[in-house]
Amino acid sequence: MSDPETTPGTAAHQKIDTSVPHSARIWNYWLGGKDNYPVDEEAGDAYTDVFPGIVTIARSSRAFLRRNITYLVSEAGIRQFLDIGTGLPTADNTHEVAQRIAPESRIVYVDNDPMVLAHARALLYSTSEGATAYVDSNVLDPERVLAAAAKTLDLSRPTALILSNILGHIADHDEARSIVKRLMDALPSGSYLSINDGSRGFDPGFEQAQDGYNKSGAVPYNLRTVEEITSFFDGLELLEPGVVSVTRWRPDADAPDAPVIAEHGGLARKP
Ligand SMILES: C[S@@+](CC[C@H](N)C(=O)[O-])C[C@H]1O[C@@H](n2cnc3c(N)ncnc32)[C@H](O)[C@@H]1O
Repeated sequence: MSDPETTPGTAAHQKIDTSVPHSARIWNYWLGGKDNYPVDEEAGDAYTDVFPGIVTIARSSRAFLRRNITYLVSEAGIRQFLDIGTGLPTADNTHEVAQRIAPESRIVYVDNDPMVLAHARALLYSTSEGATAYVDSNVLDPERVLAAAAKTLDLSRPTALILSNILGHIADHDEARSIVKRLMDALPSGSYLSINDGSRGFDPGFEQAQDGYNKSGAVPYNLRTVEEITSFFDGLELLEPGVVSVTRWRPDADAPDAPVIAEHGGLARKP
C-alpha cells in the first residue's frame, strides 16, 4: 500500500480547509455536535432555511444505523463491521452499539476527511476483547480500502459493510454501483450490506436545498430515487421491510408510525 501522506484523495494529503463547508462537519452541526466551523454553521443554516427537515433526516438516519447494528449483532451474529464514510464521532457510533452487545466485535472505520482523521482517536476506544481501527482512505479505491481493513478484520468471515450517507458523494450511479459490488464481492456468504441515503422524489424542498448546497463549494451530494438506492442491493437478499423510509425500518416500539421522510435505507444478506 502506498503512504496515505502522498495518496491523493486521503485526509493526510489535505489540510483542514475552514474556508469551505464540509459534509462531515455540517452533518455534525445538524446532529447537534461541536466539531464544526462558522462556514459549516452558515451552510447548515442556509440549508435548514430552505429545508428544516434535514435535521430530522440526519437524526433518523443515525437511529436507523443503530437499529441495523443492533439487529446484526443480536440476531445475525455479526462481529465484524466495515463502516465507510464514518463521519465525525457522535452518539452511538458503530463500535459503541456493537460492543455494548458483543464486546468482542471488531470495527474498521474509513473516511477521507482531515477533520475526521483528527478526531479518529475518539473512534478508537474499544473493549479489551474487541478492536476498532481507523483507516484514512478513499471509497473510490475499494481494493485499497479492503486491503487496509484486512489488517483488523478477517475478511474470510461474515462482515457487515456500512455505507451510511456516503454514496451520494459518488455522482455517477454506475460507478457507485460498481464500488458497492466490488466491496461486497470481497466478502463471504453471510455478510451484510447496510445502506441509507437521501432520497429524491419525496420533498421538493429537500431537492432545492441540496441544489443550493451543491453550489456552495462543498463536495456535491447527489440524492437518488428509491429505485436507484434499491439497485445497490442487487444480488443480495433484502431483509423485511426492504428499502423504506429509515423511520419505517423496524422502528422502535415507541415510534411505530413515524412519518415517511426523504431518507431511505435497507439491510441485505449476501447469499
Ligand atoms: C454525510 S457524512 C455521513 C456520516 C455518517 N456515516 C452518518 O451517516 O452519520 C459523509 C461522510 O463521508 C465521508 N466521505 C465523503 N467522500 C468520501 C470518500 N470519497 N471516501 C471516504 N469517505 C468519504 C465524509 O468525509 C463524511 O464523513
